[in-house]
Amino acid sequence: MRPGAVILGLTAEPETLVERVLGQARKEGTGAARPLLAGDPVARMRSLQDVRGELYRRADITIITENMSPAAVAQRAEQAVRDRATAGAVPDLSIGTPIERSDLYIKRGVRSLVGILARERWPRSRRCWIVTDDNVAQYWLTETASALREADFDLREFVVPAGEESKSLAQLSHLLDGMTTSGVSRSDVVVALGGGMVGDLAGLAAAVCLRGLSLVQMPTSLLAMVDSSVGGKTGINTDGGKNMVGAFYQPGLVLIDPDFLGTLPDAEYRSGMAEVIKHAWIQPSTPLASGQLMEQLNRLASLDPIADDAAVEIVRSNVRTKHSVVQADERESGLRMILNFGHTAGHAIEADGYRYRHGEAVALGMLAAAHIAASMDLIGGDSVQALAEMIERAGLPTRLNGSIGTVLDNMRSDKKNVAGVQRWILPSTNGGVVIRDDVERQAVVNALAAIGGS
Ligand SMILES: NC(=O)c1ccc[n+]([C@@H]2O[C@H](COP(=O)([O-])OP(=O)(O)OC[C@H]3O[C@@H](n4cnc5c(N)ncnc54)[C@H](O)[C@@H]3O)[C@@H](O)[C@H]2O)c1
Repeated sequence: MRPGAVILGLTAEPETLVERVLGQARKEGTGAARPLLAGDPVARMRSLQDVRGELYRRADITIITENMSPAAVAQRAEQAVRDRATAGAVPDLSIGTPIERSDLYIKRGVRSLVGILARERWPRSRRCWIVTDDNVAQYWLTETASALREADFDLREFVVPAGEESKSLAQLSHLLDGMTTSGVSRSDVVVALGGGMVGDLAGLAAAVCLRGLSLVQMPTSLLAMVDSSVGGKTGINTDGGKNMVGAFYQPGLVLIDPDFLGTLPDAEYRSGMAEVIKHAWIQPSTPLASGQLMEQLNRLASLDPIADDAAVEIVRSNVRTKHSVVQADERESGLRMILNFGHTAGHAIEADGYRYRHGEAVALGMLAAAHIAASMDLIGGDSVQALAEMIERAGLPTRLNGSIGTVLDNMRSDKKNVAGVQRWILPSTNGGVVIRDDVERQAVVNALAAIGGS
């Protein structure tokens, strides 16, 4: 049925449901013929609800029918479906997981629907915890908070300092202490309003608080829209490296509103372009197997995120690309590793004092991987040149200002190493990428030197 269909769920307390079922049976004169409710009918109903809960949770709109006549329920359902159609709120994509379903919306203005969509999805929720950073807060917090208040959520706000340093155990513990000492309950919702830093931090808090709260990702940076908000990876950094502590945890809702890009600083926009370029290079190896993103990128020398609807299309293509990979391999046991193109060296470059933005480090990491691939005859020098030009056109660095030794040291402690072996995602001649764990140390040193490392 998905995507495009609206699934309606009707529910009530077990006592009410038993009363209705037995009342109906009495009316029909089949009072005894309810084997599923034999024994203690309310307890049986509760356990049926538990067993079937996963399916019921897939509903887009859930109506609690307590004290409502069938006519009133029908009216409410009609209204809810109509409101939704008017708002154009039909998910673009869904990722199904055993526990929850993740619905992704990509649309200008979808941010204003956060209250409606969260309320429909979690009708019994009382409280909502918004996590954001102090840059994003000044532009978008008031508006987001009122959309949630209008949907009857009791709000609590956490504004953490902007910057990668906040993706820390200290901030995680600040959030968790704040939530657990202020009466957090299992039905609460966490809204991550911000870039990848906020998404990763708030996502992890949602994953571990009371063993899992509902989560909404509202990505505000290009990087978070095209990459980090999709796929359910959350995490924080430790002294041992980037993303060393984390969890796979799917958000129930991902609301991608390109209008957020209107306040994103230019350097951050460019940083996000690195993940767009990454997706363009890996796309032939994804289940979508197309070169559409590369074409889109080549057609556009530069993008104006506000005026240019092409930017919305690019976001859409990226989300589809990432979604196709994540759906095929949610836990990163195989295919999903190709999303790490540029990240083997990129993370190590980023972790060297966090002088480069994530996207800038990934751009350098992709270029290093291309040099390695060329040295292994996987691609020609012309492909390395094409990648370098694309990176340059996006306003990203092509020269590494840093020490090769430090990058190599950081790579040694990368959590993606398996039994001490480094895994590389390398571009290949026929388009797309290959996964290799037989890259010689000297090839890495040469590649880092080729991009300017000293
Ligand atoms: N979970 C994943 O799958 C995944 C994937 C890729 C990257 N990441 C992580 O994402 C992080 C990088 O994400 P990022 O580049 O978005 O960094 P970020 O969240 O630090 O945002 C970058 C800067 O832009 C500001 N900003 C964001 N949106 C804004 C807006 N609309 N208006 C004004 N300012 C805005 C932020 O305040 C910050 O100063 C890294 O921690 C990286 O490890 C995670």
